[in-house]
Amino acid sequence: MKQKSTKGNFSGQLGFVMAAAGSAVGVGNIWRFPYLAAKDGGGLFLVVYLVLVFTFGFTMLTNDISVGRKTGKSAIGAYASMRKNWKFLGILTFLVPILIMTYYAVIGGWITRYMVVYLTGAGQKAAEDTYFTSFITSPVSSSLFALFFMILTAVVVYNGVEEGIEKCSKFMMPILIVLIVIIAVYSLTLKHTDADGTTRTGLMGFLVYLKPNVKGLTVGKFLSVLLDAMSQLFFSLSVSMGIMITYGSYVKKDVDLNKAVNQIEFFDTLVAFLAGMMIIPSVYVFSGLDGMGAGPSLMFVALPKVFAQMGKAGPFMGFAFFLMAIFATLTSCISVLEANVANCMEVFHASRKKVTSVMAVIYCIASVVISLGYSVFYFEVKLPNGSVGQLLDIMDYVSNSFMMPFIAFLSCILIGWIMKPQWIISEMERNGEKFRRKKIYIGMVRYVAPVILFVLFLQSTGLLNLFIK
Ligand code: PHE
Repeated sequence: MKQKSTKGNFSGQLGFVMAAAGSAVGVGNIWRFPYLAAKDGGGLFLVVYLVLVFTFGFTMLTNDISVGRKTGKSAIGAYASMRKNWKFLGILTFLVPILIMTYYAVIGGWITRYMVVYLTGAGQKAAEDTYFTSFITSPVSSSLFALFFMILTAVVVYNGVEEGIEKCSKFMMPILIVLIVIIAVYSLTLKHTDADGTTRTGLMGFLVYLKPNVKGLTVGKFLSVLLDAMSQLFFSLSVSMGIMITYGSYVKKDVDLNKAVNQIEFFDTLVAFLAGMMIIPSVYVFSGLDGMGAGPSLMFVALPKVFAQMGKAGPFMGFAFFLMAIFATLTSCISVLEANVANCMEVFHASRKKVTSVMAVIYCIASVVISLGYSVFYFEVKLPNGSVGQLLDIMDYVSNSFMMPFIAFLSCILIGWIMKPQWIISEMERNGEKFRRKKIYIGMVRYVAPVILFVLFLQSTGLLNLFIK
């Protein structure tokens, strides 16, 4: 039976898994996971994260993908068709990719710039302290790279689900794995002796990463590890922003969703683990782990310094790393734009090509504005969670810390208590498959996840501190 041919479909399970894993694997895996693992006791964080992947993450991913396939719609239409008066949740969900899209291509542009730097053999320059700041504060250059990335994303989405998104993901994701394995294995072979005679090796760094460090662990500290792992997982799986609902709506009815969900989780977790295996030992060898930051400073300041100390292999490793990061970011960026486009196609009954073209223009402008947030439009704002941010950080904060946990909480209430878990289970068992973690799923979606999400919401908005103090 041919289905929904006007909207497009993934050709089968592999295409869907590659595209969804492409969305899940992004800068979060590369610049946040290793940092949290190093900060939160190495193996301790890994164990907590793994347990959460198979319970909490699995529940959220199952929800989104099943809602998408069962309703055949994107967030707005999907929630409206579940319960008319829950359409507001669809609209709220749709707002997340709208916000994220304004800055994701900007980050993609930064990464592209660094790949070009290593390609042209200028890696040593990138290791200088002021390099990153002077790049992002230069209005023209940072805007041009953001525009390039935005247009590249739009071209893929313009070409449709199978011809654009699927083809691109099937090409990039396997190469990403090969590159990350090469760099990770190489980083284990590193060795460095400080001026005071201390020698550190990659293998020692790898052990720091794997060994659970429970020294001085208190209940409070464990809770903060738990919350870190949860918010990371949540962002990493691209759930609660409508992306997995949209991708789910393109999955053919005969695909086994149980297998697909497992494979997406596996892929995302594997890349996060490998990113840690690549970054932690190499930072450890050259500078110890004390100064290891997260986010842009890790990727664009600390790592170029590491590559600069790798000798002959440095330029190649730097290039491989940023190429890998481009693949990770591009497939995520595509999924964010697709969630925007798909919702608008349904709401306005317009064609993909038309909607994509209009969105491309809007987001090209938005990307330039956000890029200029570090130069022409520079200002500083203190965010409710205590950090100080610019335009990009505000968008990131509102979408990830504020809206996502709230949306996920509401979707668990809708599914767990109003639609009832059986509504999702029937979709997971549609072709007679066995939904193995059914009991865990029911317990999670009705009881555990809503509580966890509520606490996460309080924590990331800074409200938890108010209660605890
Ligand atoms: N899941 C991606 C990551 O781990 C992040 C992402 C956010 C992807 C928003 C798409 C949209 O980095």
